[in-house]
Amino acid sequence: MLTRSLALWALALTLAAPAFANEVNVYSYREQKLIQPLFEAFTKDTGIKVNVISASSGLEQRIKTEGANSPADVLLTVDVARIQDAIDAGVTQPIKSAVLDKAVAPQYRDPDGAWYGISMRARVVYASTERVPQTAITYEELADPKWKGKICIRSGQHMYNNALFAAYLAKHGEAKTEAWLKGLKANLAQKPSGGDREVARDIAAGKCDIGLGNTYYWALMNDKEADRKPWAAATKVILPSFEGGGTHVNLSAVVLAKHAPNKDSAIKLIEWLMGEHAQHLYADMNYEYPLLSEIKVNPTIASYGTLKPDKLPLSEIAKNKKGAANLVDKVGFDN
Ligand SMILES: [Fe+2]
Repeated sequence: MLTRSLALWALALTLAAPAFANEVNVYSYREQKLIQPLFEAFTKDTGIKVNVISASSGLEQRIKTEGANSPADVLLTVDVARIQDAIDAGVTQPIKSAVLDKAVAPQYRDPDGAWYGISMRARVVYASTERVPQTAITYEELADPKWKGKICIRSGQHMYNNALFAAYLAKHGEAKTEAWLKGLKANLAQKPSGGDREVARDIAAGKCDIGLGNTYYWALMNDKEADRKPWAAATKVILPSFEGGGTHVNLSAVVLAKHAPNKDSAIKLIEWLMGEHAQHLYADMNYEYPLLSEIKVNPTIASYGTLKPDKLPLSEIAKNKKGAANLVDKVGFDN
């Protein structure tokens, strides 16, 4: 009897083992509810277990402090600022993958492989369907006095606006950017406040006519958030462009941790995130623009029109972030 239960026990072990023979440790800045379905699908596809540590700040510092003993394999991050933070903290190692080089266009990855973009979002204009007849706009026009008292926006120091302002600075230089920020500030209906959804809320309430928001928030409100659906219904999305350029975009991206203990599984995960299954989830659950070209954007996102991403390299935006933050302070944008 003893022999038999031992044998059963051994059988149970062999059965259980392959399911989680491998694991990968992910440090993540992305919202848990967005990424959990992705990781569950990855585990189902590959048998590799994903352990997640989520935080809203300080992950690259944590990896740095953990040093050579860090369990981190992969850092999932959003925004050019945080990608740069990870590089500056020295916690990355080059990702070498022919699969990724083929899947991700050169402008959406680091030339040295320190990071790869996974999905994209754009910073766009939400406009009142009732009070704003125009269907096209430039970022430059936001400082036009015709919008006086009509614009709502979140803090000028929030990373979404900071990246846009840094792009403006890279294109136009300091003097013109300062003048533009002053003009934009002069057009505000109220002090910068709230998040991107609240911009749509305030337009719906008639406090302002236009404002800035990311592409996915409007889609989420329209398709998934019944209580906020009226805010989407009162607004439309206009894809703005820089004069002579395209629409400002930002990325969600992935880096491979310098001391990744499960490097092979980490590369598998990163390649999987750029595969069809995951890219569909990014497009349809997160309402982001997939970076794998054969995957279609979600129909709600497609209804905004065809995105023409601005060509300014992310490295140029990263270089100008500090300068943009200083100008925001200088003109008292948030005061
Ligand atoms: Fe966001």
